[in-house]
Amino acid sequence: MRLILFGPPGAGKGTQAAQLKQRLNLHHLSTGDLFRAALKAGTPVGEKARSYMKAGKLVPDDIVWGVAREGLDAIQADNFILDGYPRTVQQALWLDAYLDAHGQEPPLVISLQVDEEAVVARLSRRRIDKETGASYHLDYNPPPPGVPARRIIQRPDDKPEVIRQRIAQYNALTRPVKVHYQERGRLVDVNGTGDIETVYNRILAVIKKKPAASTIPIL
Ligand code: AP5
Repeated sequence: MRLILFGPPGAGKGTQAAQLKQRLNLHHLSTGDLFRAALKAGTPVGEKARSYMKAGKLVPDDIVWGVAREGLDAIQADNFILDGYPRTVQQALWLDAYLDAHGQEPPLVISLQVDEEAVVARLSRRRIDKETGASYHLDYNPPPPGVPARRIIQRPDDKPEVIRQRIAQYNALTRPVKVHYQERGRLVDVNGTGDIETVYNRILAVIKKKPAASTIPIL
């Protein structure tokens, strides 16, 4: 199975990818996680990505392609969920060409629909376990008891002014990726509001090709 989880910052891509990975035994490839790991390790890629991430801007396509290709090679281009990638039409074209060279169709794209007000509310209350990378929400998905408070931090790009910039980048550069996959008949819109389990079940219904009542038809 090959899936792309698509949507604006805070749509729930990482949260749902973690569920799908665990329950369906898929590889999870998040370019955001790869960049954060590179930053933490102080690698040249991390250093190149640093200023873009801090400002809420997209990292240039050639840098992204380097980390994405390495990740795809490692999982042999199969049985994966891509989260936060591709994010520009150029990235999607390179991904299509890469998969084509491996004899693979473009993945099924699950586009999570969450309005801007809700994503801002989600991101501003998101907290991360800095040791495990697990993502929580102070109200909807709090860290479990037993996780030491010192490990729970706010992502630096979850500050209000950076959130606004990330949403602007999504609207300008990432939305067109949706059209790219719509034109190829690979995209399904899924209502991303409601609790985490409800959204997961909607995604599962799409994967199993059983249209859920809450799946928004493509016009
Ligand atoms: P990245 O880490 O990919 O950030 P993002 O796309 O902005 O996505 P987020 O991680 O903010 O949101 P999400 O949709 O995963 O939501 P989550 O599940 O956490 O990228 C960071 C940066 O790296 C980018 O700005 C860019 O600089 C760079 N980058 C990465 N990839 C790149 C690429 N391909 N090209 C160029 N640059 C790239 O959920 C959010 C919150 O909501 C959490 O608190 C969660 O608990 C909560 N939540 C989730 N689901 C629900 C629900 N159903 N109900 C209530 N709360 C919920």
